[in-house]
Amino acid sequence: MGGDHATLPRAAPALSTALVECLTRNMQLRSGMRVLDLGCGKALTSIFLAQEFNVEVWAVDLWVEPSENLKRIEEAGLGKKVFPIKAEAHQLPFARSFFDAIVSVDSFHHPTFRTSWT
Ligand SMILES: C[S@@+](CC[C@H](N)C(=O)[O-])C[C@H]1O[C@@H](n2cnc3c(N)ncnc32)[C@H](O)[C@@H]1O
Repeated sequence: MGGDHATLPRAAPALSTALVECLTRNMQLRSGMRVLDLGCGKALTSIFLAQEFNVEVWAVDLWVEPSENLKRIEEAGLGKKVFPIKAEAHQLPFARSFFDAIVSVDSFHHPTFRTSWT
């Protein structure tokens, strides 16, 4: 999906941030929690979560390069709070129960997510 993501309209990042803002109204995120942002894309939602809630975020995506995301994360001053990882959603390299919360914005509908979860 890399190509599609690159051609999204400029409003898309703001929309994703607005979506995660809505989503987190119903979550009890507290400072220091470990959060998985699954299918994080350009990690803008991961950055938002770390900034707003002071949580640690593992920004996981299959196609957006972690080095690109790290650049954005460090520019936001969050290099010690947001950790970009390249991983496939069905083969995550984390221990069971490692995360306190999982968010997935505008990703779960993607065909590669559906193959084994629906
Ligand atoms: C529409 S983008 C949404 C990105 C971000 N959550 C946002 O709201 O801006 C969907 C993302 O899901 C990722 N993705 C799709 N299938 C995936 C999979 N099986 N494992 C991990 N990431 C996946 C894609 O690389 C893409 O960056």
